[in-house]
Parts: sequence; C-alpha cells; structure tokens
Amino acid sequence: MSWISKGSGLLLVAAALPLVVRGDDGSKQQAMLAAAGREVFLDTGLSNPPGQGCASCHAPEAAFADPRPVSLGAIPGSVGRRNATSLMYAALIPNMDQEDMLQEDGTQEWVWQGGLFQDGSARTLHEQVQRPFFDHAEVNVGSETELAGKLRKANYADKLKAGLSDEEWADDAKVAQRTYRALVEFLKEPMFRPFDARIDDFLAGDEKALTDQEKRGLDLFKSKGKCADCHFLHATSWPQPLLSDFGYDNLGAPSRGDKDPGLGGHTLADGEIGQFRAPGLRNVALTAPYLHNGSLATLREVIEFYNRRDKEPERWGATDYPETVNRTDLGDLGMTDQEVTDLTALMEAFTDRTLLQMRERGERFPAVAPGTPDSWKMRSYFPDWNHAAPPLPPHPPYRGHILKNQPLSTSR
Ligand code: HEC
Ligand code: HEC
Repeated sequence: MSWISKGSGLLLVAAALPLVVRGDDGSKQQAMLAAAGREVFLDTGLSNPPGQGCASCHAPEAAFADPRPVSLGAIPGSVGRRNATSLMYAALIPNMDQEDMLQEDGTQEWVWQGGLFQDGSARTLHEQVQRPFFDHAEVNVGSETELAGKLRKANYADKLKAGLSDEEWADDAKVAQRTYRALVEFLKEPMFRPFDARIDDFLAGDEKALTDQEKRGLDLFKSKGKCADCHFLHATSWPQPLLSDFGYDNLGAPSRGDKDPGLGGHTLADGEIGQFRAPGLRNVALTAPYLHNGSLATLREVIEFYNRRDKEPERWGATDYPETVNRTDLGDLGMTDQEVTDLTALMEAFTDRTLLQMRERGERFPAVAPGTPDSWKMRSYFPDWNHAAPPLPPHPPYRGHILKNQPLSTSR
C-alpha cells in the first residue's frame, strides 16, 4: 500500500478505514443479492401467463443456452428470432464501447466492441437483464409495477428486501432495480466462470491436457483457420482468455426467417448491417445450434462453413445482408477434410469440467470450480464494477455514412 506514504498519510489512512468496513459489507451484500438473483432466475411465476423463467431458455445442461434454434416465449405461439446464448461468462463480456484499430496503412479505425445481446443493443449487463421481463416474445410482464407486485408476493421476497427500508420496498421502481441488480450479481457468481476446461490446463502449461488431434486443431486455430484473430486465446479484459475479441462481423450466416440487421439495426450505419458480436467459444460444444439465428446445427457444419462458404454457395443458401459479409478472413480457408475434423475436435477442449460433472450427476447447477475467486475479489475486473456506464461516445467516424431512415428493427 505504497500510496499511504504519499502526501498527507494520516488523512489517507483515515479515509481508508471506512473503505475496509465497506469492503466486508460489499462482499456480504453481493452474496445476498446473488442469492436473491438465483431465485428470480428460477422463478417461473413472474411471466405472463405464468410458466416461464430465465432457465426456460437458458438451460443449465446446455451451458445456460437454448438447444432450440430460437426460443419460445411465455405466450403460446410466440417465438424469438435469435438463438439464446450461453450465460456462462456473460457477466465478463465488456460493456459496449469503441476500440481503435490501427490499420496496416497507419490509419486509425474505430469499431464497436462488447455489449450484451448478439447485436450489442444492451450497453451493459444491467441494461440487458431488464429486457427479457418486458419482451412480449419472452417473459412478457406488462410493467415494473406488475413485476414489483409479483416479486413482493414471491416466497423469496425477504431475500430481495434485505437491506431496503419499508419505504423503498413500497416503491415499484426500486424493487425492480433491486431485482436487476440481483440478477447481475447472480450472473457474476463463480459457478458461471470456472475456467476449468482442458484448454485452460493446456495454456497453463499442461502438455497432456490436449490429445494429439486437439493439438493439431489448436495449431490450425492459430494459423490457417485464423480463428484466434477474433476468438482470442490470450487474456484481455479478464486474467484468463474468453476466446473472443467481442468485435462485430457479418459471417454470412444462412438466412432463417425475417432479415436480422444485427448491430446496424440500432447503430444505423449501413456498413454494420448484418454484423453480430463474436461469441466466446467456451463450452461451445454444449450450445448447439450455432450462429445468431441457430442456422447451423453442428460444430462440424460451422467449421465447414468457415472453410468452404464461398466454394459452395448452393449448400449454404442466401444470407440476409450479402453486401457486408466478411470475405477476407473466412469463406475459403483451404483446409483439408482431416484439418476440418481436427479443428472440430478442438472445440471439445473448451468445455468446462464443472458443467460435464453437473450433467453426469444430474445436478441443477454446476459446482464452483476449486479456487475460483468470489465476485468481490474480482470486482475491479467486472465490466460493471463502477455500476455506471458513461454515455456512449458518438458513432465511430470511419463508418461515415449513417442511415437516415428509422431503425430497421426496434425489437431485439
Ligand atoms: C424466451 C426465452 C428467453 C427467456 C425467458 C430469457 N432469455 Fe435471455 N436470451 C434469450 C435469447 C434468444 C437471447 C439472445 C438474444 C440476442 O442476442 O439478441 C438471450 C440473451 C441473454 C443474455 C445476453 C447474453 C449475451 O451473450 O449477450 C443474457 C445475459 C440473458 N439472456 C439473461 C436472461 C435472464 C437473466 C433472463 C430472465 C430474467 C432471461 N435471459 C430470460 C432468450 C431468453
Ligand atoms: C473475423 C472474425 C472471426 C474469425 C476469423 C472467426 N470467427 Fe468465429 N465467429 C465470429 C463471429 C462474429 C461469430 C458470430 C456470427 C453470427 O452469430 O452470425 C462467430 C461465431 C462462431 C461460432 C458459433 C458460436 C455460437 O455459439 O453460435 C463458432 C463455433 C466459431 N465462431 C468458431 C470459429 C472458428 C473455429 C474459427 C476459425 C476457423 C473462427 N470462428 C473464426 C467471428 C470470427
């Protein structure tokens, strides 16, 4: 604590004391809220009509993703249009922001990075967890008043109320905010971030953690496949790698249902139409089907798509926005069948042991991997750690041409 000796030491020490106390409280508060968040997550009584909770579309045995291409909502017959993503490591996804990239010619480009939902339409996790409640194709609650009314009657209401005054508890908006915070704290829990896949052991120096085939797959991941260019194997915002740069791209996914403008649907920049956030590949072997619209059924298909998209257009069919498809980094990688097999095999090494154990033992949630630090210890790494995202910067200048018309899509 070298800073204590700087300047007026006494003042700083005095100021530091309450922080220590706040530290203890912070940790307890966080654990309490997370426990309440867990109840909300499992509650199927909040939806309209009742019967649907977060876990209905985020199935723990599928790494908290949905095995269906698109999810069904609480209202019979209502369907979403995107494949529900895994909630493992979701609380570690950086907030929506801009990143500058230096081009080969020395010019600087600004690109979007991070954000929640595959189109980045929620800036932060706190913003994200509110939406399923009010989405008509999901939980379908009418208002915060309706939500708060149901929460006050829930059998876990005392957990949610803890720390709130009676006056606050009577305030619908405060009860709702409390609930969003509780869900965020729940998603930050150690069970969602075990980092105990075989790839972690290998990257930590255990040569035997991967089979020979997987090692060949890893070489391809870093070379011919170019996968590691976007699915980073190195650590960035978190001490361990999340297997994504959280940048946006249009891979040319086969069309499925209505056109989905992705990032461009809310940034309104024509160059960003059809772009989706690169997902972390952790536990990807458990989260079929794939891509934002669930259009590819297996990992083998995904790799074949990367490898031969442009060679066999008839196989993959039309895509929503051909004009923005990335044609430089993928589509014709020139990998042999054996290489495709090896790369596909590697994806199994991204699966966390705790999830496999949970499935074997038929448990509801994964156990906490030994040694996983609690949320309080990791607080400065979580993107929400200051609980307030600054306003979004203006649109990246390089995109120039902003669409003048209305948002192409107002739904997610
Ligand atoms: C009807 C199905 C459904 C329900 C119920 C549902 N979700 Fe989702 N969830 C989805 C889908 C589909 C997506 C992906 C949507 C997208 O990317 O635009 C998603 C995305 C998310 C994400 C973003 C993950 C990421 O990678 O950006 C989080 C976090 C999340 N849901 C949490 C929750 C919570 C918490 C609840 C309960 C309050 C919930 N969901 C209820 C279907 C559902
Ligand atoms: C230019 C950046 C980029 C490169 C290079 C790249 N990816 Fe991706 N990857 C993405 C984006 C963006 C998505 C999401 C696309 C979508 O949903 O439409 C994605 C999605 C995926 C998915 C689907 C995950 C899911 O949950 O649906 C897998 C699997 C995958 N990539 C593996 C790979 C592999 C293996 C390679 C190397 C052959 C690779 N990626 C190369 C950007 C990239």
